[in-house]
Amino acid sequence: MKKIAKILAIVMVIAVAASMFASCGKKAEDEPVPAGTKKLVMGTSADFAPYEFIGDDGDFAGIDIEIIRGFSAAYNYELEIQDMDFKSIIAAVNSKAVDFGMSGFTITDERKLSVNFSDPYEETVQSILVMEGSDIKTKDDLAGKIIGVQAGTTGDDFVTRDYGQDAVNQYDKYSLSIQALLNGQVDCVVLDDQTANEFLKANEGIVKLDSAYAKEEYAVAFNFDDTELLGQFNEYLAKIKADGTLDNIFAKYKDQ
Ligand code: ARG
Repeated sequence: MKKIAKILAIVMVIAVAASMFASCGKKAEDEPVPAGTKKLVMGTSADFAPYEFIGDDGDFAGIDIEIIRGFSAAYNYELEIQDMDFKSIIAAVNSKAVDFGMSGFTITDERKLSVNFSDPYEETVQSILVMEGSDIKTKDDLAGKIIGVQAGTTGDDFVTRDYGQDAVNQYDKYSLSIQALLNGQVDCVVLDDQTANEFLKANEGIVKLDSAYAKEEYAVAFNFDDTELLGQFNEYLAKIKADGTLDNIFAKYKDQ
């Protein structure tokens, strides 16, 4: 009896070991060859819900964050996200202080002189937030007003061009511009439409006006030298546009 049990135990050990070997071999065959194991550092300004913000758990969250986490996983990159002022990101990409910038970046001709943009993944317009009862009813009422913006954004560019530097209060973070609106330090804030919706939801007494600024497209900003990374990102983007992943991410975060 004892002998049979012993033999049985040995047979089992061999069987387990054999199956382990078998699954090892299979795993090595099935796993795709990693395209890169490099660490990627991304610059962002996490004051821009629903694209990048700090979630309730203290971690980065939002549309851009989910897209880039998916990309990093698919291409086997280790991702590090650095939160910085928006106005510093392009320079950081350019000097290689970060590998790329993803921060709801609108493609502009001026920025194209400093960085390579990926294919676009989103569209927006600039909207105007005012306090309830404001005499600003449309974009044409902005003359003579104090306008809040995030420094270095397209909203900043447009109103500085249209109304001059003296009319514009620049803030490093959008949250500070909204604070200034609530405190009466600015008459309005000009910012990207979906982010305007988020501030509208989170603060009483604010109203959104449409503006007549042109449609903008968001893309990721890469260093000119990093064409391989750019190519990989565009390839990933095309895939998630086609298979519905991108739409699912939008649906999770955006007001429809
Ligand atoms: N789309 C605008 C721009 O490119 C604003 C982006 C602001 N992004 C941010 N994460 N705060 O200038």
